[in-house]
Amino acid sequence: MNLSALLLLTAVGAACINQRVDALTIDQIIGLLMGGSPPYWKVIFDVDSSGSINTTEWYYSKQATLDTLFIIDNTPAADSVHPIRHRIGLVRFSDEDVTKVIFGLGTYGLFSQNYMAIASVPKKGIQTNTKKGLQLCQNELGVQGKRLVWMTTDGKSNQGGNPVPKANAMKSTGIVICVVAVGPDTNMTEINDMASWLWIPGYIKPKRCVLEFESFQAYKTAARAARNRVVPARRNRRIK
Ligand SMILES: *[C@@H]1O[C@H](CO)[C@@H](O)[C@H](O)[C@H]1NC(C)=O
Ligand SMILES: *[C@@H]1O[C@H](CO)[C@@H](O)[C@H](O)[C@H]1NC(C)=O
Repeated sequence: MNLSALLLLTAVGAACINQRVDALTIDQIIGLLMGGSPPYWKVIFDVDSSGSINTTEWYYSKQATLDTLFIIDNTPAADSVHPIRHRIGLVRFSDEDVTKVIFGLGTYGLFSQNYMAIASVPKKGIQTNTKKGLQLCQNELGVQGKRLVWMTTDGKSNQGGNPVPKANAMKSTGIVICVVAVGPDTNMTEINDMASWLWIPGYIKPKRCVLEFESFQAYKTAARAARNRVVPARRNRRIK
């Protein structure tokens, strides 16, 4: 067996261990949403930084977010993160007082600037005010254009009230909400209810835009695999 075949088998094996076989992948979702016309989106990363997430897990979560940014930057073509193409923002949610817009939509125009801004977000907080996080995303996304919330969470809301009605109100204005659910303590009822339905080619029914991982390490590994499927090798070498 040659090396690339071995690497491919290893990657497929790893994906199967960490994620359900019929599960959606990050590149599949981004390709489905942003491969169309008009292709350009407003994207807010909505990142859980509550107390159950440790320093290593926070690092993995941000690595996965960075690889997702990379995929967005290359969908539908290279350099798609740009002041007049995809625009990016980030909300961090946890306790009420640390749930914040860390950087607003379009604050940083280009990929590399967004990359640095995401990499330097500090972790803060104990509780999980999912609803306030969604409200801040809604404020950033406004009412027009193609709009996506990419939420990552390892748990369930325990402050600020039920986030599901807020999510439903946002979806009714056309916002797409995708949720990455990490670890064993997620409330999957809440997560599924917040997420948008997507029509995926090859499926006869719509699927919730939900990705489940057993750990932040598994999420990070899957995001890197997704990035490697999307990004031309030339660009892959440029940024570690
Ligand atoms: C962070 O959490 C992970 C997963 O639960 C665990 O394996 C790891 O040892 C923890 N790391 C630290 C620094 O506490
Ligand atoms: C999970 O979320 C649902 C819907 O928001 C809620 O009704 C339920 O009480 C939650 N369950 C747990 C164990 O937190």
